[in-house]
Amino acid sequence: MKKNLKKLHSNKELNETETKKIMVTQSSLPPLEEYVEEIKDIWESKWLTNMGCKHKELQEKLVDYLGVEKIDLLTNGHMALELSLQALNLSRGGEVITTPFTFASTTHAIVRNGLKPVFCDINPDDFTMDTSKIERLITPKTCAIMPVHVEIFAMLKKLMRLPKSTILKLYMTQHTRLGLNTKVWA
Ligand SMILES: Cc1ncc(COP(=O)(O)O)c(C=O)c1O
Repeated sequence: MKKNLKKLHSNKELNETETKKIMVTQSSLPPLEEYVEEIKDIWESKWLTNMGCKHKELQEKLVDYLGVEKIDLLTNGHMALELSLQALNLSRGGEVITTPFTFASTTHAIVRNGLKPVFCDINPDDFTMDTSKIERLITPKTCAIMPVHVEIFAMLKKLMRLPKSTILKLYMTQHTRLGLNTKVWA
């Protein structure tokens, strides 16, 4: 009995914790019926992969939205990073100066292109690469600089100013957003 009460108590505490969750971001979803209506064509055509009608439609809409000439859709953000680095045609073994404070994809994309990541220290203010420290990392092998913009920290800084008792758990992640993404230049 005592044990059960203890269990109940901890469940209650857990539920209270659940309701106090602070969502930093949340996916925006259309009403389910609207979504089902939208994908009916796919069911009818039975065309699920490789340049189907929805793929083409999204591609065209994104070209308009982003104001670019051409767009390629990829499975995920990692593939976009890996392929854009590949498109730069950098010599294997070249060094890419980047931030260690990022999602693993940044480094993976560099390594999978046969390049070597060279980590630059970050700024304590905004957690992005400290640009004053880049120059000393440049060697004859340097072929690119790959910074990552950590936009979430503006919000995080504000959250950290809240009284400690308000914050139960802060979950941090790097953020990629359509139209404002990781930029690579060499
Ligand atoms: C900075 C950064 N680069 C790359 C990625 C990889 O994106 P994806 O998970 O879509 O492969 C992420 C994902 O969180 C990211 O934050």
